[in-house]
Amino acid sequence: MDEAIKLAVIGYPVGQSLSPVIHSHWIEQHDLAGEYKAIEITPSNLKSSIAKLLDKGYRGFNVTIPFKQDIMDLCDGGIDDTARMIGAVNTIIVKDGRLHGTNTDAFGFSESLKLSGASFAKTHALVLGAGGAARAIVYGLKQMGFKKITIVNRTLTTAQEMAEDFAVEALPIEELYAAAKTADVLVNTTSLGMEGQPELNFDVQQLPQHCVVCDIVYKPLYTQLLTDARASGRQTVTGLGMLVHQARLSFLKWFDVMPDDSTELQHKLQQKMHEQKEQAEQKESAA
Ligand SMILES: NC(=O)c1ccc[n+]([C@@H]2O[C@H](COP(=O)([O-])OP(=O)(O)OC[C@H]3O[C@@H](n4cnc5c(N)ncnc54)[C@H](OP(=O)(O)O)[C@@H]3O)[C@@H](O)[C@H]2O)c1
Repeated sequence: MDEAIKLAVIGYPVGQSLSPVIHSHWIEQHDLAGEYKAIEITPSNLKSSIAKLLDKGYRGFNVTIPFKQDIMDLCDGGIDDTARMIGAVNTIIVKDGRLHGTNTDAFGFSESLKLSGASFAKTHALVLGAGGAARAIVYGLKQMGFKKITIVNRTLTTAQEMAEDFAVEALPIEELYAAAKTADVLVNTTSLGMEGQPELNFDVQQLPQHCVVCDIVYKPLYTQLLTDARASGRQTVTGLGMLVHQARLSFLKWFDVMPDDSTELQHKLQQKMHEQKEQAEQKESAA
């Protein structure tokens, strides 16, 4: 029997990552020799921890917060154009002991939007937020061929820097609803609306009725933004799609097999999220 291909998601913290559920599901489904773990690395130990994992025979990694930028310095096998443009690496392929970096988040988002069944024109996309995930989203929207992309962020200078990198528009928060009037697609890439974070407080009535409303936050699956958009009859896309589709491309790079999203996988993920929420609530009530 072939030796199992060892893979892991590395981050700090990483215990709540859903990536092991996704990749283990596909490894089993395709009857592949592989194993996928979540490995927490203390930020100051990134380089030495990677060296140890390579010694143990690891062949690939997903990289999550806070290492998506720092890992770039360790990619001695190179970084592809997508990751370079986004400015972050979320997937590592180890070949001949060298780390090759790429980023599958932009594909994850675009594929999620394309396969959601939503219909939309590619005239104007409005992106809320200008953090790490926003860079991948803007890159993805550009690749999809959106004619106009507007970034609105709490910190205008961050949005302006990103807008310059991608040759798109940045507007101050005061102009948010003016920009919303023409949006075909709205994407929340801020952490607002996530469990434990403040709400986004966005009035969906300011969007055209045909606007597709996307949130990349997936805990909860239906954020207030998506709940409001759905209640108003607008099309919605949850963040779970992006998570699964970015994972598909990583899996392809490691195993040369493109796996599918499926109802079975969605059920497993929602079950896991439910368990994690219950555990967090129990912990809170015990404290
Ligand atoms: N679905 C997926 O596959 C996927 C993938 C990646 C990330 N995500 C989710 O996307 C979210 C953002 O991740 P990230 O890596 O981009 O984080 P990040 O780099 O820390 O960026 C956070 C963004 O949220 C904004 N923000 C934070 N707190 C705010 C507040 N109180 N008021 C207004 N704006 C605020 C920040 O604005 P400032 O610039 O003003 O600070 C920034 O634009 C997270 O919830 C993450 O879980 C989902």
